[in-house]
Amino acid sequence: MKKNYEKQIKELREKMTLEEKIGQLQQCGPSLVGAFEVSFEELLNMMFDGRISQEEFERLMGTAEQDFHEEDLRAGRIGSYNGIGDAGTANRLQKIAVEETRLGIPLLFGYDVIHGFRTVTPIPLAESCAWEPGLWEKTARIAAKEATAAGVHMTFAPMVDVAKDARWGRVSEGAGEDVLLNSVYGVSKVKGFQGDDLSKEDAMAACLKHFAAYGAGEAGRDYNRVDMSMQRLWEEYLPPYKACIDAGVRAIMPAFNDINGIPCTVNSWLLRDILRGKWGFDGLVVSDSNAIAECVNHGIAEDKRDASRQAILAGMDMDMSSNSYIECLKELVENGEVEESVLDEAVDDVLRIKFELGLFDRPYRTNEEREQQTMLKEEYRAIALEAAEKSIVLLKNEENLLPLKSDAKVGIFGALAADKGQMTGAWAIGANPDDCVSIVEALKARGISYQYSTDGSNLLEIASESDILVAVIGERKEESGEAASRADITLHSEDLALVRNLQATSKPVVAVLLNGRPLAIPELDQMASAIIEAWHLGIEAGNAILNVLYGDVNPSGKLTTTFPATVGQCPMYYAHMNTGRPGGKSKFTSKYLDAPVDPLYPFGYGLSYTTYAYEDLKFEKDEDGVHVIVTVRNTGERAGEEIVQCYTQMPYAKRVRPVRELKSFTKIALEPGEAKQVELKITNDNLEYYDWEMNRIPYEGKLKVYVGGNVQDTIVEELALS
Ligand code: NOJ
Repeated sequence: MKKNYEKQIKELREKMTLEEKIGQLQQCGPSLVGAFEVSFEELLNMMFDGRISQEEFERLMGTAEQDFHEEDLRAGRIGSYNGIGDAGTANRLQKIAVEETRLGIPLLFGYDVIHGFRTVTPIPLAESCAWEPGLWEKTARIAAKEATAAGVHMTFAPMVDVAKDARWGRVSEGAGEDVLLNSVYGVSKVKGFQGDDLSKEDAMAACLKHFAAYGAGEAGRDYNRVDMSMQRLWEEYLPPYKACIDAGVRAIMPAFNDINGIPCTVNSWLLRDILRGKWGFDGLVVSDSNAIAECVNHGIAEDKRDASRQAILAGMDMDMSSNSYIECLKELVENGEVEESVLDEAVDDVLRIKFELGLFDRPYRTNEEREQQTMLKEEYRAIALEAAEKSIVLLKNEENLLPLKSDAKVGIFGALAADKGQMTGAWAIGANPDDCVSIVEALKARGISYQYSTDGSNLLEIASESDILVAVIGERKEESGEAASRADITLHSEDLALVRNLQATSKPVVAVLLNGRPLAIPELDQMASAIIEAWHLGIEAGNAILNVLYGDVNPSGKLTTTFPATVGQCPMYYAHMNTGRPGGKSKFTSKYLDAPVDPLYPFGYGLSYTTYAYEDLKFEKDEDGVHVIVTVRNTGERAGEEIVQCYTQMPYAKRVRPVRELKSFTKIALEPGEAKQVELKITNDNLEYYDWEMNRIPYEGKLKVYVGGNVQDTIVEELALS
């Protein structure tokens, strides 16, 4: 049960001066100061556009010191920090807030804990391929234990932006293209981060992001405009945010993008009418970094002052890093452009989360000793390994080349195979490369006889002495994540050349892909005998990959994002509409002249070292919905886990409907030859959709129900609803 702090909040707020109130809305990060005369951002730009080398950048960074703005803190001008992830600094600053400010209001520390803190687990896109809510919650729990021990109170996660365009770099940070999966994933993360009581020392508030539809930026370009129908917004993009709010998430971050012409940062329809009005959210709304000031660039605000006015009126509580509120709100309130009561609502939201976190009773929720004892425990490593193994998707396995025999001589190629720092993927600020196990290290530890070449030199010599050739290729961690959209998502030319040269030796080639997004890899699919999609798996990457390669683990991951056959198909996703002329062989159908309409690997796809058969699909109806019952049989010779997926199609509705919609899923374990009856539930709610006026209406009529191991490989039955 959520406790009610409204009385304390009001009493405290009534003691606050206007300046102190505005101070509570200010979130800032430490600024870097050093032997350079430009801002840190400019310095980064200088490195990225080649004006200074990476070495020069690193040298300058070595001279930098952090400025924590203590004077502002003492004066009550800071309510929250972003980006402080160590107990010593957090407690030092907290002490200033509690002991040296007039009212002693504790600070709130936010941090990007996206996929683990010190124990880095797979990137969210990878972990979503496990289709396992219990696992998602478990990894969030260990992230919360470590991060809170380091002084963090709130994580800027989970990201539940449905992402259908593989070119977008932040595909890596969410659960892929499906609306149901993102909802279930987000809810599990919220539970894991927040635990059952936010005031416990290891509970971390979750800040849901990026509200809304940040994943729908045009052409997959980061921060780009989002223009979509209301039907699409309500059905395909908003449900995951709503699910997390219903699950009790305590903070939310509006997105950088505009929706149909109004930036989310100043969008009162989104932040007041929907979020607070319709959905009843009473938590904290924190802007994205510098987003308030950027409304000037959007062309919707005249200046920072105008942007601040619009943002606070729209319901934006806290200003992350743009200094807009601290610079402009006082005057706006004093001359009546913003009612003080509007400001008070924002202040209340900030104080509420601080009360809920128990910060007034226990401002120092950790200390350096706890921090030291909590990091990277053996049991956390074991969870990181389990998560990594379950995230791996076997994309191809010609003639059962895998699993490998432990006495086969291996030739291994590619810089990523030995690069420990690359195992973590995007957004792993607290990571230490020394914690990571690379593939080459794992081979060594297993006592496998191998030869390694980073760049393919000595290729012929190594190949002649090897039984199997493994190419570790894909993307470096900097190639996905924020501000890392790619227009061409094929393999890098040197990776393709490597695989071509390996294939030319006539030895069997296994490709291990490390990447943060779906790639368009038709050539690789032709050339390699086996392909393992290993994403960026975190600290246990090397061990997990070898466990799958050598069959200690039977792979069970399934794609949560479609792999296009060519980049020109993007955005490519399974739940598309049929059109009046579905893609087919004849000329006047919805297709390309120069590319297939089908993907390379469909949504939900992933192979195993065993095989499964689906039989006997039937239904039972009750007042809550439909129970779909199916028998799944392990028809191979190994035990395995199968992710059973249930899709529907509404073939005749009042608005056009997707060709398939995921409605339910579960994971089951089967011994060789074993069969199990599986029940999947589709609730009545899940059979509703929106009419032209945006009313939710039930679907009535014949429903097609598909069950199988991926969206294309299913058995189907028709069910009459009404
Ligand atoms: C910008 C990103 O969009 C957001 O996801 C992140 O939480 C903030 N920066 C803070 O680092």
